[in-house]
Amino acid sequence: MQNINATSMRVLDNRLWILDQQALPQQKNWYPVLTAQELIDHIRALRVRGAPLIGLTASLLLALLAAEGMSRAELTSALAHLLAARPTAVNLMNNLARMREALATADYIDAMGREALRLVEEDRGLCDAIAAHGATLVGPGSRLLTHCNTGGLATAGIGTALGVIRRAHQQGNVRRVWVDETRPLLQGGRLTAWELGELSIPYILICDAMAAGLMARGEVDAVWVGADRIAANGDVANKIGTYSLAVLARYHGVPFYVAAPHTTHDAACANGDGIPIEQRDAGEVTGVSGGFGSCRWAPENAEVYNPAFDVTPAALISAWVLDTGVITSDQVAAGVFRQSLVS
Ligand code: MRU
Repeated sequence: MQNINATSMRVLDNRLWILDQQALPQQKNWYPVLTAQELIDHIRALRVRGAPLIGLTASLLLALLAAEGMSRAELTSALAHLLAARPTAVNLMNNLARMREALATADYIDAMGREALRLVEEDRGLCDAIAAHGATLVGPGSRLLTHCNTGGLATAGIGTALGVIRRAHQQGNVRRVWVDETRPLLQGGRLTAWELGELSIPYILICDAMAAGLMARGEVDAVWVGADRIAANGDVANKIGTYSLAVLARYHGVPFYVAAPHTTHDAACANGDGIPIEQRDAGEVTGVSGGFGSCRWAPENAEVYNPAFDVTPAALISAWVLDTGVITSDQVAAGVFRQSLVS
């Protein structure tokens, strides 16, 4: 397979490498990924994260394993295991459905290699298209608030919501980005802050709880977030804390935008109630750990509730910005998400 160089994944000499997103930005550790189980462990530990990136790394790994000589039966089993690695994000399922089709062909080794590369190339194009559509919604001098990390680290391209912010900044329209730290795993405080710094985009890091006060003072012009799954009625699953931002935005009259590729859309899922929400380890809430060290603050016997995602109802979303264009509430009410977005 040809070499691939993205912000947080590489293919070098037919080997997949991932940048450990748990340790960023304090440490920049690249790890080779040799087996499906290794990738599943990286995904569960959020060393590999971001809905698009997860689907792409899984597809590339399967293609590389096929080229190494893994049998069709072993590949089928590896694919099934990878499918379960991130239950909320539908990109993984969509990408692996295409890899399964390639696996079913006579020349599956070549077909899987071609399909995985196509998915990577497509993802870059999807990010660019989202950015182009989204930037039309960002007016001069905008102060934008974002949650979690939706940038180059989470995709093969420039990102989704963060890609929009990046494009709008290039167009001179971004005064500042308010970066939610994004508890419990601090993807905003560690990853988005790092990416914006690298891109010289002015940002101010805030605790998640500060968004309300900022909106009340009129300091937020729009909220931009990504998505793990968009249901047929327009409900959106995204990183925990997204729903609170949407409620706050509605109360304060601030537009709330969701940016995602069409591979995040799931027409088979009627509404947000049908989106499986991953529950995560209590240790992520009772303390912190990562490249910055570890510490526990909660009592030993503290009970914890730790869903990784929440669902924002369609009624709170101002527009869905996809690679296919900007989708309005009227279009959603008319059923645009009840069918496939691409022919
Ligand atoms: O658990 P994470 O850090 O992978 O959560 C990421 C998000 O919620 C993103 O908004 C989503 O996956 C889209 S990334 C382009």
